[in-house]
Amino acid sequence: MGVSSTVPLLLRAARGEKVDRPPVWMMRQAGRYMKAYRDLREKYPSFRERSEIPEVAIEVSLQPWRAFQPDGVILFSDIVTPLPGMGIDMDIKEGKGPIIFSPIRTQQQVDELHPLDPETALPFIRQILGALRQEVGSASTVLGFVGAPWTLAAYAVEGKGSKTYSIIKNMAFSDSNILHQLLDKLAESIAVYIRYQIDCGAQVVQMFDSWAGQLSPQDYDIFALPYQKKVFELVKRTHPQTPLILLVTGSAGLLERMATSGADILTIDWTVDMADARRRLGNNVKVQGNLDPGVLFGSKQFIRERILDTVRKAGNWGHILNLGHGVLPETPEENVAFFFETAKNLHVPV
Ligand code: CP3
Repeated sequence: MGVSSTVPLLLRAARGEKVDRPPVWMMRQAGRYMKAYRDLREKYPSFRERSEIPEVAIEVSLQPWRAFQPDGVILFSDIVTPLPGMGIDMDIKEGKGPIIFSPIRTQQQVDELHPLDPETALPFIRQILGALRQEVGSASTVLGFVGAPWTLAAYAVEGKGSKTYSIIKNMAFSDSNILHQLLDKLAESIAVYIRYQIDCGAQVVQMFDSWAGQLSPQDYDIFALPYQKKVFELVKRTHPQTPLILLVTGSAGLLERMATSGADILTIDWTVDMADARRRLGNNVKVQGNLDPGVLFGSKQFIRERILDTVRKAGNWGHILNLGHGVLPETPEENVAFFFETAKNLHVPV
């Protein structure tokens, strides 16, 4: 057997090697649409328990692996998980998402934050990633993930999810000095956290800047992009071989800017036609995506057509097949199974 056969498909595609079919995984592939997850949630009602008790988080991460054998197995965790390790206490509430107990609004609060020491703050991450690597071997790629500085700052400042981002935008457009200090501190700790995930076994890491699409392109260049760059630069300095993926939700107006972030792969959401994304980005930028998660409510034939359409438009190089955002909790598991089965049986003409 050649060397390449021991390197899993997704990792090979992420590195830019030519592969026989696009690798496939699904954002939020572990979670509420799975009965196995809902059953386990009865036993462990707190999200922090489910994601921070190693045995439970390992089990949840592996539920979709056992059910569908995706080409990528993502760590079950959350983007806010490292925040308590910097002095930002939080909880994750059912149906609401993250809640920050004392939202960061003042200079003093920013001064009191401390750099993340993942080995002491997040020892469970080592156990989870190690176990995932051991379990999937070379049959799948283990993905780690983090939140980007702007998106984590949005939670830290707003105190919870928001529709308008009024508080952080008030800070950004009236007294941006405090916000820039916060973003910078977050960037340093996120870089440390990505390195730690890689050292613990993550083979590819995705950074979610979920709320950066709420910024105008001009403000994306001020509050999101420089800090994405900082994180990627710091990680590449020590871990140049690990592919890094960037996701921004609502990124249609930002694609060309995202391509300057230093990410190896860009996640494309479904508001952009994949053929347009390829045209706009050129053929040297690797892409991931980009089916509307709602497609999985359609018939099998419809799902199949949309997979084929996306794969055709993405071409036969540098594409990781995925939805354009997380799978929706109401999605029938049977359709998720069909999505993976269809994707794994594709033969892309070379
Ligand atoms: O892909 C995977 O399987 C890993 C799972 C994962 C979770 N959170 C688990 C989770 C990932 C990749 C995340 C990242 C995350 N968390 C993001 C970035 C991705 C994105 O959607 O843009 C964001 C913005 C968050 C913050 C957050 N945490 C939200 C918005 C929610 C959902 C609130 C709700 O209940 O609708 C959470 C909670 C959360 N994180 C859930 C899961 C499965 C749902 C709660 C539960 O299952 O009990």
